[in-house]
Amino acid sequence: MCISNKIGPPVEGEDFFGRTKEIRQANRLLDSGHSLLLSAPRRIGKSSLAKRLIEEKSREGWKCVYIDLEETTTEDGFLRMVIESFYKGGIWKQITAGMSKGLASLLGSIEKVSVGPIDLKLNRKEEQEDLYKNLKELIEHGQDTFIVVDELTLFLGILNKSDGGHEKVAFILNWLRSLRQVSKTKVRWLFCGSVGLRNFTSNLDLGYTVNDLTEFNLDELTREEASGLLKQLCASEQMVMDDALIDYTLDKLVWNIPYFIQIIFANLMVFHDDGAAITKESIDTAYNRLVSENYLTTWSERLIEYRELENPARLILKSLSSAPSGLSRDTLLDILMTGKESSKIEETDYALSKLLRMLENDGYILKKDSIRVFRSPLLRDYWFNTFVQ
Ligand SMILES: Nc1ncnc2c1ncn2[C@@H]1O[C@H](COP(=O)(O)OP(=O)(O)OP(=O)(O)O)[C@@H](O)[C@H]1O
Ligand SMILES: [Mg+2]
Repeated sequence: MCISNKIGPPVEGEDFFGRTKEIRQANRLLDSGHSLLLSAPRRIGKSSLAKRLIEEKSREGWKCVYIDLEETTTEDGFLRMVIESFYKGGIWKQITAGMSKGLASLLGSIEKVSVGPIDLKLNRKEEQEDLYKNLKELIEHGQDTFIVVDELTLFLGILNKSDGGHEKVAFILNWLRSLRQVSKTKVRWLFCGSVGLRNFTSNLDLGYTVNDLTEFNLDELTREEASGLLKQLCASEQMVMDDALIDYTLDKLVWNIPYFIQIIFANLMVFHDDGAAITKESIDTAYNRLVSENYLTTWSERLIEYRELENPARLILKSLSSAPSGLSRDTLLDILMTGKESSKIEETDYALSKLLRMLENDGYILKKDSIRVFRSPLLRDYWFNTFVQ
């Protein structure tokens, strides 16, 4: 068995490469009872890491659940997804003689999940609150359990925009928190998403609902891992790249996240399939193709999550893509102030601080001394090609 070139969905099993240190760290934290918050840039490998942890914890006999909220936009959808995935993960209690009638009948309807969609009666707000309360009691807190909730902030961001959104978001965050607060619970959680849950909750004055979570970071691969991944991909396709060519590729990418390595490899395969040897020129051509095709559109699309800050974010990124050596904060402020009355300077300055932090958290840019630059030349060249040139 060997690794295969995957670009897009989270990688699993044999296709997962490296991350040894992060896995060790995460295991240590989970084993000592921590619940984790992994909010890291787009496409860095969050979901893949979460799935790998699930594989490991399942092998150790833990009950595991993976909930992907990317497709969910309503509270109802959230509830159904939680119930169904908890059912499939086997983390509900068994029906016992002493159990209240309400709980036993809820469990009965949950068990129908295997034969079709569950019938939830959610007509009134009180009924819904009762349901959440009952669900909390139905979880078996005494067994080692690992629950991954992917893209929670994305879902809550959408819910927040619906009628009574703030109240709904607060309710869900408080409910999740109450599940983590159950005395002696052996359930551990991992929340992942590229939009920072902490920024999101603190903007809504709900920071307290996540303050028990331990921050967990994920960044680029180490140079050794990056080179190992590229070598294994080559080996799986009998493609020859010596150390100098591997180094040339990684130096060109600068920011060695596994996704960038996978997409450049996919483009090198075009030469290999034509029977040509890989050279520095073919690496340059593959790179140029990447910056002019659609592999990186997600970085542009997801700016929609910046809502009222989307346009100024685009303005900043456009300017930075034309300035490879970076721009100072003052220059960026001048750019945002263009065409505005000078009385707007305070609020624009504040928005700029917020935006720079968000763009840094999401991996678009970084701060080098007092200068902001694109974090990845690949992304910068894509941006320039797509939005400037
Ligand atoms: N450990 C890994 N080994 C090999 N490839 C990986 C690894 N992690 C990520 N990748 C590559 O990156 C891509 C994206 O991975 P993943 O979906 O896990 O990232 P993500 O951070 O969850 O992305 P998003 O921000 O879109 O949710 C994968 O399709 C694969 O090409
Ligand atoms: Mg993901």
